[in-house]
Amino acid sequence: MARILGIESSCDETAAAVVEDGRAILSTVVASQLDVHSRYGGVVPELASREHLRAIVPVVREAMERARCDWAGLDAIAVTQGPGLVGSLLVGITFAKAICLARGLPLIGVNHIEGHIHAVLMEARMQGGEVGLPALALVASGGHTHLFHVDREMHYRLIGKTRDDAAGEAFDKVAKLLGFGYPGGPVIDRLAPHGDPGGVRFTAAKMKGNELDFSFSGLKTAVLRWVEGRAMDAEIAARRELLVHTPRPTVEQWLAVTPRATLDLLASFQATVIRELLRRLRSAAEETGAESAVVSGGVACNSGLRAAAAELRLGIPIYFPQPALSTDNAAMIAAAAFPKLARREFAGFDLRAQAGLTLA
Ligand code: KG4
Ligand code: ZN
Repeated sequence: MARILGIESSCDETAAAVVEDGRAILSTVVASQLDVHSRYGGVVPELASREHLRAIVPVVREAMERARCDWAGLDAIAVTQGPGLVGSLLVGITFAKAICLARGLPLIGVNHIEGHIHAVLMEARMQGGEVGLPALALVASGGHTHLFHVDREMHYRLIGKTRDDAAGEAFDKVAKLLGFGYPGGPVIDRLAPHGDPGGVRFTAAKMKGNELDFSFSGLKTAVLRWVEGRAMDAEIAARRELLVHTPRPTVEQWLAVTPRATLDLLASFQATVIRELLRRLRSAAEETGAESAVVSGGVACNSGLRAAAAELRLGIPIYFPQPALSTDNAAMIAAAAFPKLARREFAGFDLRAQAGLTLA
């Protein structure tokens, strides 16, 4: 049995988890900084670093306590090396190095995107199954929208990526524009069922070159034009005002300050993002003959996306992780480190934070 402590601090969540054999989560703790960043409509890097510094010691301690684990009971410490905000990554990396040095434990560097993919593989194993390889892996979050082909040896090939905004970033920007605060994905997800997804017509992004690439900036601009063409200042101000007094409004509270036309806009925007994501997944499944597909990253929480994927009839299973494993967490980092531990693929103490680290 091998126990790994995973540490994740690439963006605005400080997380630690203890995972056994890449399949049993003994503990997982996530300290979110949402309340710090929400008033700014996005993550403020300097504040994120400061909050990670504040949270890292209690978060790791809690993960160890909940797992009933002491340092001697660990086989390695895994930490997110990148991609992400360099100041944020540094907090996790420095902390992980310090414990490894003090306790004589091996250090493992993990790519955050690989972590998102392993979240799904781990969950399948937790349920007694295995994701069939080769697989397609769609990672859609605030920072990335990448489509990989994963072969039987777990080698990754990038077959499509966004040329501009990430899918989650599009949710966040549209929400911010309309006065719904940050992050945008969860609130749009909850309000979209109250609008008509065919209410506003958006055209699909036309990709020259690789047709498996994504683009969301045109859609974001189309939403901006739609808003500019209407007198929406009062309703946007009402929503911003609501957020000042109520950090997490209920659906009813949002509905009270959101007219029908805006709900249609949200539903149509979300439906377009979902269509764009699933269209690539379908083409890639047909082109590559993969045995399964996994969808991960914050956007994988989207209930409209899950429902549409269930209706897709791709002919191969599509796996989504449970929401807590879809968004940033450290269990996925510990899970991704497990095969590296088996291969004794350890990092030196010169491990650096790499803001632009790629997977393939
Ligand atoms: O994976 P994640 O926690 O962090 C990054 O690595 O970026 O993803 C966060 C992103 C945000 O852009 C957020 O708006 C989006 O995921 N998100 C969602 C939902 N929940 C989170 N997007 C659509 N629907 C959701 N339910
Ligand atoms: Zn992420």
